Amino acid sequence: MTHDTSPTLIPVPAEWARRAKIDAETYTLKYRQSVDDPHAFWAEELKRIDWIKAPTEISDVSWSKDDLHIRWFADGVLNACYNCVDRHLPARQNDVAIIWEGDDPSMDRKVTYGQLHDEVRRFANVLKDMGVKKGDRVTIYLPMIVEAAYAMLACARIGAVHSVVFGGFSPDSIAGRIEDCRSEWVITANEGLRGGKTIALKHNVDKALEKVSGVKGVLVVRHTRASVAMNVGRDQWYDNVAARVDLECPCEPMQAEDPLFILYTSGSTGKPKGVLHTTGGYLVWASMTHEYVFDYRPGEIYWCTADVGWVTGHTYIVYGPLANGATTLMFEGIPTYPGPDRFWQIIDKHKVEIFYTAPTAIRALERLGDAHVKKHSRKSLRLLGTVGEPINPAAWTWYWDVVGDRRCPVVDTWWQTETGGALITPLPGATDLKPGSASTPMFGIQPDLVDADGKFLKGAASGNLVLKTSWPGQMRTVYGDHQRFIDTYFSTYPGLYFTGDGARRDADGYWWITGRVDDVINVSGHRLGTAEVESALVAHPKVAEAAVVGFPHDIKGQGIYCYVTVNQDVEPDEMLEAELRQWVRDDIGPIASPDAIQFAPALPKTRSGKIMRRILRKIAEGELNNLGDTTTLADPGVVEDLLANRKSA
Ligand code: WTA
Repeated sequence: MTHDTSPTLIPVPAEWARRAKIDAETYTLKYRQSVDDPHAFWAEELKRIDWIKAPTEISDVSWSKDDLHIRWFADGVLNACYNCVDRHLPARQNDVAIIWEGDDPSMDRKVTYGQLHDEVRRFANVLKDMGVKKGDRVTIYLPMIVEAAYAMLACARIGAVHSVVFGGFSPDSIAGRIEDCRSEWVITANEGLRGGKTIALKHNVDKALEKVSGVKGVLVVRHTRASVAMNVGRDQWYDNVAARVDLECPCEPMQAEDPLFILYTSGSTGKPKGVLHTTGGYLVWASMTHEYVFDYRPGEIYWCTADVGWVTGHTYIVYGPLANGATTLMFEGIPTYPGPDRFWQIIDKHKVEIFYTAPTAIRALERLGDAHVKKHSRKSLRLLGTVGEPINPAAWTWYWDVVGDRRCPVVDTWWQTETGGALITPLPGATDLKPGSASTPMFGIQPDLVDADGKFLKGAASGNLVLKTSWPGQMRTVYGDHQRFIDTYFSTYPGLYFTGDGARRDADGYWWITGRVDDVINVSGHRLGTAEVESALVAHPKVAEAAVVGFPHDIKGQGIYCYVTVNQDVEPDEMLEAELRQWVRDDIGPIASPDAIQFAPALPKTRSGKIMRRILRKIAEGELNNLGDTTTLADPGVVEDLLANRKSA
């Protein structure tokens, strides 16, 4: 893909400057206030939430390694579900909260705020009936159906902590996540549907529960007609229990710093970590960013194509939009089923005004040709957004030109599971756009650049992206492992939050995120640790050693390149290659399927035995003339073999 670096500047369209809540001048003023007088700024913004007891404390934060704590609005009391549902009643009783569009285009449904209130209370009472209590961790492994939102909100209502596991993860991955947070409850469905294929969710849960003990109850939503094995005493059909519970269910008053959810995400080392978000700060951040980034007003039809299994689904399908009384669309399927125009067909069908998706989807759809897009009018669209990985200027320009007909601003939102919501992003009525740039910081966010030694870089520069101060949506800890939280984010550059991303700041102060600088890779917007794939590979009985790196991939953003050394008595062949690919899929999930597997008699190591990943990355990237210094290698001959047997993926 060509990387157009022309410094095109697309000014804020006049009608956006007029209508938007935040225009350029307001942005500058509010940003200054948020940085110079955060107390006053947040004292005002926290009012967007209905508090049972309004906070008087704004923040109490220390990023010092010896006393790391992050607290926002700590003496406030609230309930997140109340803010997303009850408070919109009775005024919005008949307004649509969720538009659900099935994998099968003939299936859809609209849920009003009044109905959402009933469904969530019912769901909450079902959880109570099972025995779920405040503070319990509830694992949710559901497809993109309305019950996923009900389940999350029902947990929030009764003060249980949800841990949503993406439906594309394997039984092993589910088991690991259940075990890590000692979750006793699982909510799943008999089956999921994606692109006309079924996904055996309940079966995966059964397999996971063979590997982990302590789960007392499994609740099964009936989504397809398939019958599934039910383990008597442990498993119950949701509809059976729902038929016998009543509707009354008060909202549990929660302290602002009580946990709202755990979401597992990959890091550069070890197992995925349980990112913990708490109630008050997260909700203020979700609501505020959803309103400003999308210039959202109730009544507008808003669609974020993420899955609720990822943080984008948490913040920008469920909590942000519903806190703002929005109409949020939930889509069960994939962009190319039943045809390559599904997204655009849905946009016309439901008159979607705001559309938020991932660069990988944009690139894949661009490749299929403009005709599929142009077949549909898309005249309802006003605003486009992207998230999840860097968007190359060519894909950005296609999105703007072809999808948005050069009418709709594109907001490229940079953030992370850890940040709770968007941190660097244009605002449609305030920011002149540069294709490929996430542009400017959200209120209260102070990004900066450091070099490898932690020295601040001035002016236009490239370096490692750090944040200098806390914001309400920041994660509070790694569940069950506060030291890992400190080590991962606050130890590289003392006093700063290290994002793991590289970035460039241009002469206008715009931010360009260049991608991860650690061993995290971003495959089709799905975040994976190379260490996770390596540990899956070396668990295979025929594998002696493995090293995994990312490489640029036209559609996926990054692909997965594996170097594998087999045991001495093993002859590597195509069959073993296929077997290893399947092995990784079984261990982590289909999203971790290797794009290339290269068998190597040995890996390049330093004399002290450290694998030189830099060289492996260069080879995978195809930068063969630019391997850098190889003189520190224990056996330089290894590289010759790697070059000779390089896989083109
Ligand atoms: C990357 C997803 C460039 C980045 C919300 C980050 C991006 C990681 C962008 C977090 C963007 C996300 N431009 N890169 N607009 N958005 N990223 O935790 O590398 O799944 O660190 O959160 O995705 O991925 P995560």
